[in-house]
Amino acid sequence: MTENKNAKSAVIAIGSDHAGFSLKQSLLEDLRADGYELHDFGAYSLDPVDYPDVGREVAEAVASGRFEKAILICGTGIGITIAANKVKGIRAGACSEPYSAKMARADNNINIIGIGGRVVGVGLAFEIAKAFLETDFEAATRHKRRVNKINALDGC
Ligand code: RB5
Repeated sequence: MTENKNAKSAVIAIGSDHAGFSLKQSLLEDLRADGYELHDFGAYSLDPVDYPDVGREVAEAVASGRFEKAILICGTGIGITIAANKVKGIRAGACSEPYSAKMARADNNINIIGIGGRVVGVGLAFEIAKAFLETDFEAATRHKRRVNKINALDGC
């Protein structure tokens, strides 16, 4: 696996609903301290917000090319990931540990990761996010053909 030398050069989009708000705030602080630049799409408080709205806005920002990657957080990481995957060009996966995050980049070329604010703690979420941000897609392998087949389902 090749190391991504530009891992910290791109701005990363991040968004959550109310259930993911606290974890999002922690990840913003920890990833910024680690050298990442992030654009925060909210939520901006614990006031209830519907996860499909945030998932859609962030996914559209990635699909448009404005951002290469995004982190989405809801209670489980699942609902907001389902919503994001409805946007053409998005490959989003919900991960609860770093191995899945790493392989979802290497094999599946996910461009959005979903994390559960009610599922994982702050330290584990940071390791999951780092695995997502620092693993390259293994494009020169059989995985390219397989991801192309996923993209074809999406009309891409
Ligand atoms: C909100 O209560 C919760 O349903 C949401 O954050 C998420 O877990 C949905 O998948």
